[in-house]
Amino acid sequence: MAVIEGMSEPNPSTAIKVWDPLVRVLHWGLATAFAVAYATGEEIMSVHEVAGYAILVIVSLRLVWGFIGTPYARFADFVRGPGAVRGYLRSLVAGHPEHYVGHNPAGGWMIMALLGGVAVTAVTGILADQSGVSHGTFEELHEVAANGMLLLVLGHIAGVIVGSLAHRENLVRAMITGRKKG
Ligand code: HEM
Repeated sequence: MAVIEGMSEPNPSTAIKVWDPLVRVLHWGLATAFAVAYATGEEIMSVHEVAGYAILVIVSLRLVWGFIGTPYARFADFVRGPGAVRGYLRSLVAGHPEHYVGHNPAGGWMIMALLGGVAVTAVTGILADQSGVSHGTFEELHEVAANGMLLLVLGHIAGVIVGSLAHRENLVRAMITGRKKG
């Protein structure tokens, strides 16, 4: 993260509030719950289960907020068609990325994949637990989903670093303070 720490702070006179407090709390809550669930998966099952249920609560709240939340939190603001995603990725590769105040079109689909992925992982975990069969189908699905999620999260963090560098803006700080350059 040292690379992006040196980036310029958003100018307070032009910086705008983009991420409302609920978006930020849910984000860091989800990241923490995912890390705890991943770390305790094979060992501390009581903690693992609490983290899994916390993930389901967080994802449910975020889904509702995606329809009724503040403007940049809404899915309508950042879920765009394949043309917009291609256009954004082309502009990124060409070195003059299109600027979006909220999530960019590529990030938007990554977000839907992360939310859908953690939901599937949590639900298959609950079903595996309830089916009571050790090494049943749900348990296998749960493991595949959890490993897939690890890859998605690594891709997400890589995307955040690339986006921060390309737009010369520390996106991690923006997800903490809520402020971005306009
Ligand atoms: C150290 C770990 C992480 C960092 C530094 C990080 C950073 C970020 C940043 C900067 C954004 C905003 C991207 C933008 O400006 O468009 C974001 C969004 C998002 N991240 Fe992460 N993230 C981390 C871990 C995770 C994990 C583990 C998950 C899920 C399992 C996750 C799910 C999401 C979601 C769903 C959003 C969309 C936020 C919203 O609109 O509600 N993140 N993340």
